[in-house]
Amino acid sequence: MSRMKAFFLEISFLLLTSSYAHDSIKYGYQGGNGADKWGSLSSDFSLCSQGKQQSPINISKNTTIYDPNLKQAPRDYVLTNATLINNGIHILLKYDQGAGNLVLDGKKYAMTQMVWHSPSEHTIDGQSFPVELQLIHESDDNHIAVVAILYQFGSHDAFLLQIQDKLEQLAKDKCTDNQEARIPVGVIQTRALERRSRKYFCYNGSLTTPPCTEGVTWIILGKVREMTKEQASSLAAPLSADYKNNARPVQPINGCTIQLYDELHNAKKTASNKSN
Ligand SMILES: *[C@@H]1O[C@H](CO)[C@@H](O)[C@H](O)[C@H]1NC(C)=O
Ligand SMILES: *[C@@H]1O[C@H](CO)[C@@H](O)[C@H](O)[C@H]1NC(C)=O
Ligand SMILES: *[C@@H]1O[C@H](CO)[C@@H](O)[C@H](O)[C@H]1NC(C)=O
Ligand SMILES: *[C@@H]1O[C@H](CO)[C@@H](O)[C@H](O)[C@H]1NC(C)=O
Repeated sequence: MSRMKAFFLEISFLLLTSSYAHDSIKYGYQGGNGADKWGSLSSDFSLCSQGKQQSPINISKNTTIYDPNLKQAPRDYVLTNATLINNGIHILLKYDQGAGNLVLDGKKYAMTQMVWHSPSEHTIDGQSFPVELQLIHESDDNHIAVVAILYQFGSHDAFLLQIQDKLEQLAKDKCTDNQEARIPVGVIQTRALERRSRKYFCYNGSLTTPPCTEGVTWIILGKVREMTKEQASSLAAPLSADYKNNARPVQPINGCTIQLYDELHNAKKTASNKSN
């Protein structure tokens, strides 16, 4: 009886997961469905070619505007169960419940998932980085704020160490066309990604994947973090050759202002005010 039940559960689980993305249009990063074609793949994707606030962008440090009104953007993450996903395009980690909050301008955004891109999508003074991790936060009124962390090669990333074996398992699970592979990872500690940033860039942009929805607040942390080359490879291993490189090229800035939050700048100012 219970075995029968388990069997049916399994069947419905398979049906659920394989129906994913059947109706959605598969976009890519090169060739016929590459980033320069997204706008023409579906009328729902028209912002990808016609939007005026598209992400990612190239951040020119020279033209960023130091904004004394920007506040620290405190993040407070909690232990939560999560699922590692290969959707055939990216590797994502989805939280079963909100994994804690980001507070921006007094508004609360819950972290719901994160996604890795390689190489980085944002560039700084034209420089690209091997990996960019995007932490996706959503407010109750459906506004999205993304915190982006850039990585260069170096020592181990502590956060990834927690899911290293699951990533290897994901690479063995060959996910067939239009089917996502999911591996529950259990409780995960996201504190490692919470570390306070003394400096960040902030601008109004879009999702970097179709439908390229605008009105997304971007926070690019000034501190570049490190992961080993092996860790970067393990993030690419589950993806097919066409998707190992899954970064959208930088988009025109169209007069968008990039604000800079700089704690040291703030501190200097306070110090000089005091000495005056
Ligand atoms: C940044 O500003 C400095 C000084 O004004 C200038 O020499 C340099 O060429 C600028 N760099 C870029 C990338 O615009
Ligand atoms: C994670 O899931 C397990 C099994 O469902 C549950 O017992 C546990 O309370 C969950 N932990 C958290 C932090 O949500
Ligand atoms: C990015 O910005 C730098 C200046 O900071 C500039 O030299 C470079 O050409 C820009 N690259 C692109 C692709 O826009
Ligand atoms: C983004 O847009 C909002 C609302 O239009 C505005 O208040 C905010 O200053 C903008 N932020 C940046 C960094 O331009």
